[in-house]
Amino acid sequence: MKKVVRVVGARPQYMQVPTLKKALEEFGCKHILIHTGQHYSPSMSGNLLSELDNAIPQYNLGVGSGTHGQMTARIVEKLEEILIEVHPDFVIVDGDTNSTLATALVTAKLRIPLVHIEAGLRDFDRNRPEEINRILTDHACELCLAPIPRAMQNLISEGRGDASELVGDFLLDNYLKYYPRADFRIVDRLKIRGPFGFMTLHRPENTDEWALGRFQEIMNFASKSEVPIVFPVHPRTEARVRQFRQDYGDGSILFCEPTGYLETLGALRACQFVLTDSGGLSREAVWSGKPCLMLFRKDTWHDLLEHNWAQIFSEDGPSLMDKFAALSVPPAEEVRRMFGGGNATSNTMDVLKKRGWL
Ligand code: UD1
Repeated sequence: MKKVVRVVGARPQYMQVPTLKKALEEFGCKHILIHTGQHYSPSMSGNLLSELDNAIPQYNLGVGSGTHGQMTARIVEKLEEILIEVHPDFVIVDGDTNSTLATALVTAKLRIPLVHIEAGLRDFDRNRPEEINRILTDHACELCLAPIPRAMQNLISEGRGDASELVGDFLLDNYLKYYPRADFRIVDRLKIRGPFGFMTLHRPENTDEWALGRFQEIMNFASKSEVPIVFPVHPRTEARVRQFRQDYGDGSILFCEPTGYLETLGALRACQFVLTDSGGLSREAVWSGKPCLMLFRKDTWHDLLEHNWAQIFSEDGPSLMDKFAALSVPPAEEVRRMFGGGNATSNTMDVLKKRGWL
């Protein structure tokens, strides 16, 4: 029986786990889930994982917050110990968080084969920690799984073509699995009676002290919207919101706790449009056919923008209002096809068999 370890650490990584976990288990593999503890608040971690079909971690490294170096180093030390004990046939990790890079470092040192999901994405900005995490992981792992054709092109141009396969986006597989189970309780809880927008914000470029101007522009825009904006507040954004809450307290922005995954899908299904700086939520918005304003300066999912399926907001471009006016309803089916049509899991199982991993 093959032993497969999956490592997760931050909220966006949990939703990529269930379909591949199930497929590996059905094939007869032992699947061991390790949570690094990079995210730890109940709203960012435990509550979320418990919604996702038995995605309860067997290990939690409990590393918590810290500087990037501290987080990475703590994970390296603790994960190494567990991987030596568990001795898996291979390890799977996804994305671009500090948990991702730490996993790549440990597996490279222990010479345990590593599969990197969401490989090949680039925003070409090395000032961002995620870009460094992506590049280093893609070059340390044995198998890169690209979610979209452009990511595959990036891997080929960096000399990783032989170790890479285009399989599609796991988030789409899991989105299709959970979308019908969306939980609409948030609509009642916030007493929403008509159309509304859905907003999330967590990136340093929108929430940190140095980004105050940008944060205020986004909040001013949201507070002037014709319909209320539901705004679950991420822990990173909490302090900023507390600082300015009285300026936006007229009920046009409906502040709430971070939502679980099924509740996020409920808000997505019920809302009119999405404003977000989350790479995951912006893809899910477009797959749901919802107009989406991406509150990023730069993005790794260029294809959404190139086809005009979403709009990006950078302060040297048109105002938020103009960007919002330019939004159109994305062709959900067509976009889903570009992201693998929900076949990332089955494509990956084929790749793992073909390459002799299973
Ligand atoms: C990490 C990922 C980023 C991802 C984001 C999703 C890296 C380099 N970056 O960002 O790609 O989009 O997670 O959220 O790994 N906090 C809590 N409880 C928690 C987690 C965080 O209170 O469970 C607070 C802490 O004060 C922490 C701050 O929020 O310092 C930042 O959290 P977050 O933005 O999630 O973490 P990053 O590591 O910056």
